[in-house]
Amino acid sequence: MQKTMTSVTIVYHSGYGHTAAQAAAVLEGVQSVPGVSAQLIRVEDVENHWETLDRSDAIVFGSPTYMGSVSGPFKTFMDATSRRWLQQAWKDKIAAGFTNSGSLSGDKLNTLVQLAIFAAQHGMLWVGQAELPAGRADDAINRIGSMLGAAAQSDHGSTGPSEGDLATARRFGARVAQAAQRWQRGATT
Ligand SMILES: Cc1cc2nc3c(=O)[nH]c(=O)nc-3n(C[C@H](O)[C@H](O)[C@H](O)COP(=O)(O)O)c2cc1C
Repeated sequence: MQKTMTSVTIVYHSGYGHTAAQAAAVLEGVQSVPGVSAQLIRVEDVENHWETLDRSDAIVFGSPTYMGSVSGPFKTFMDATSRRWLQQAWKDKIAAGFTNSGSLSGDKLNTLVQLAIFAAQHGMLWVGQAELPAGRADDAINRIGSMLGAAAQSDHGSTGPSEGDLATARRFGARVAQAAQRWQRGATT
């Protein structure tokens, strides 16, 4: 029987609020798609939300880039999923990822690669970015030129990523939600 709603959960870490702003933009994008329910979970709170993750049709992973990789708290979350890996509990869920850092590059690609490999470990289906870079202005879509996932850059002392990076995150959230809907429809009809 077909489920009425598609469920997308965003699980993320943010030490200082910048990646949290990006996560909120991804959430807005997910919520813009009719028929999709969206949940936002901080890795610090994950112990109370494993069932939500297990029930989700899609999980979006978000981490700041610290020292060229995912942050320590996000890695702790990754390692805490090992029992689910053993059971392949998240197999065939849609997955996607986003990251934010201080530098334009900041080695963000390595973080996205880590997230994509993490999803592959779980047998999940990775959805990448589909927005062509529209220039380098602050309000440009995908100004970072990241195709593996959504990327954002936040200046030190700012409250979050640029207008364009947030708009990119919104479009990314909508794309993941639509992909999850299509995948769920295909599995249940
Ligand atoms: C421990 C640490 C390591 C960092 N490493 C990087 C890095 O490798 N590349 C980079 O561009 N920025 C780096 N930064 C800057 C953060 O990525 C940037 O401030 C980001 O906006 C923080 O996101 P958050 O507020 O969600 O924690 C680092 C910051 C911290 C605290």
